[in-house]
Amino acid sequence: MKNNHKIIAANWKMNGSEELMNEFSKFMLAKHNEIIICPPFTLLDSAKTLLPSFIKIGAQNCSEEDKGPFTGEISASMLQEKSVSHVLIGHSERRTLFKETDDVIFKKTKAAIKSKLTPIVCIGETLSEKKANKTLQVLDCQIDGSLAKINPHEQVIVAYEPVWAIGTGLTPDENEIKETHLHIKTKLGQHFNADIPVLYGGSANAKNCSQIISIDNVGGLLVGGASLTKHEFIAICNC
Ligand code: PGA
Repeated sequence: MKNNHKIIAANWKMNGSEELMNEFSKFMLAKHNEIIICPPFTLLDSAKTLLPSFIKIGAQNCSEEDKGPFTGEISASMLQEKSVSHVLIGHSERRTLFKETDDVIFKKTKAAIKSKLTPIVCIGETLSEKKANKTLQVLDCQIDGSLAKINPHEQVIVAYEPVWAIGTGLTPDENEIKETHLHIKTKLGQHFNADIPVLYGGSANAKNCSQIISIDNVGGLLVGGASLTKHEFIAICNC
């Protein structure tokens, strides 16, 4: 890759506490990597006060709507008021458990951009899609459905997360990651003017992070489970 600047994003999912945040803040030192922590909504205020200022704060979801009768939803503009700079959109758990379609993901991405947040749009194939050799086709379809209508001047981040690798301890091999990332980068390059970072996510940890992050076209990592353990996450941030 041309530059060594990588993005390390932590997806805490429905986990974490102020105590964990305090622990992290004591040990995290500014390094050349860009660090983004995405805690649950209820910890966003604490993230702002407890985490060192070089760490950026992300949310894990936002509504496609700006305001109105949508009980339980939180809009991108509300997140922006909380000093949030990034938001995960279309994580596979949202796609599967909350039935989010590519069209919904497109609308959420648009809402995030409108509120000046950087969306981290997640894409990835399931195990059966992989076994049927449909990985690239699925990724194309997800990109077409969620990103093709976004203004090419905008800056977004994409996270490639094979669904079968999330929380399983399994990861694709180096060549597979190389091939998929090249494919995604090329496709995004045909649409967007800026260079779009493509993160890898799915069982990234302190042991495999250096190897994965050094693969061509991997712009960083989206880390779930390993981002909840202080020594693991600090090692990943430093890799
Ligand atoms: P994992 O999760 O690192 O625990 O596999 C990644 C994610 O869900 O974003």
